[in-house]
Amino acid sequence: MSRAEKVIARCRQLAAFTEQPGRTTRTFLSPPMRDVHRLVGEWMREAGMTVSIDAAGNIRGLGGPPDSPRLLIASHLDTVIDAGAFDGIIGVMLGIAMAEANPGRSLEVIGFSEEESIRFGFPFIGSRAVAGTLDEATLARRDAAGVTVTEAIRNYGLDPGQIPAARLSPHVFAYLEFHIEQGPVMEQRGIPLAVVSEITGITRLRVTFEGSANHAGTTPMSGRRDALTCAAEWALNLERMASREEHLVATVGTFEVSPGAVNIIPGQVRATLDLRHPDDQRRTEAVRTALQYLEILGERRRIVIRHEVTMDQASVAMDPGLRAGLAVAAGGAPEIPSGAFHDAMVLAPLVPACMLFLRTPGGLSHHPDETVQEADVELAIETGIRFIAGLRP
Ligand code: HGY
Ligand code: MN
Ligand code: MN
Repeated sequence: MSRAEKVIARCRQLAAFTEQPGRTTRTFLSPPMRDVHRLVGEWMREAGMTVSIDAAGNIRGLGGPPDSPRLLIASHLDTVIDAGAFDGIIGVMLGIAMAEANPGRSLEVIGFSEEESIRFGFPFIGSRAVAGTLDEATLARRDAAGVTVTEAIRNYGLDPGQIPAARLSPHVFAYLEFHIEQGPVMEQRGIPLAVVSEITGITRLRVTFEGSANHAGTTPMSGRRDALTCAAEWALNLERMASREEHLVATVGTFEVSPGAVNIIPGQVRATLDLRHPDDQRRTEAVRTALQYLEILGERRRIVIRHEVTMDQASVAMDPGLRAGLAVAAGGAPEIPSGAFHDAMVLAPLVPACMLFLRTPGGLSHHPDETVQEADVELAIETGIRFIAGLRP
């Protein structure tokens, strides 16, 4: 089995560890994460690393002398609902491949416990613990069952009181994240690898539309306060706004209708908005427009609308020096911005960070058919080895 085949096989092996039989769904410290930690820990030890699980559920492999300057290679081990096998996971598997290719070299590999925000509605629990930015408000967030982040950590057998000990070691002088592009750009341009120039900014809203439920048969159209048609008109306005502007994307990804019966006018809709733009000023203006739509629609349709900003993350440029080194190691790979967010944006304020993208066939991700090309994985391994060989603290 080639190095690339082993990386791909390991990603697919981990994809079988899921909360939902028949599809890959693995959220923050859910039971299948134990199987992932067991297997990833084995692979890290086989690569000569000492392994630990920190208080935020990150699995950490340390290679070489613990007190020498080291590169950190990391990505996340949680997944979205009905995920593919490679988003996040391949970054950790390639980190282990780097340790295998550099025996005895001072290196740290981290598999972050949570990046996708599926269980608690807020991303980066693992990497924020390493960055020292995991705040009380996030620890107090509750999942659909009412369990807080802190309780989830305790239920997993970890001690939330030890979270400060998860902080990034001062010996780490650079951060590298391998990740799939998750979009169509590299395939369209025929490029197997790309260096990430910046990671786009993102704002997320949680919006509640309160109308009034009523009888579907006896209530005239003129007297209705239909929460669903109001929310739907908002979503269509957002689609029109984003479709008119390059680099702006807006997604209403969740839409909970209640009471949710065929013969009842929807009284309430709870929806989310995920809005992204690489330019922070444009993103802020687009969010302002989205909120103005809410005001206008609420007024005209007599719907009470409340919103909460659940995420507001500025775009983050990757380190120019590391980008240049990565491009050279990749034989002159071009740079592209990342439309997806990544743990690298959490670590970048603390340590120079860079990302290497692998092409995503079909541009398909957050989908079970997400895949990679073996040749591209081999190129990424060769690039990583050359990059590490040329890296100095
Ligand atoms: O949503 C994102 O951009 C990332 O894949 N979690
Ligand atoms: Mn993802
Ligand atoms: Mn990811």
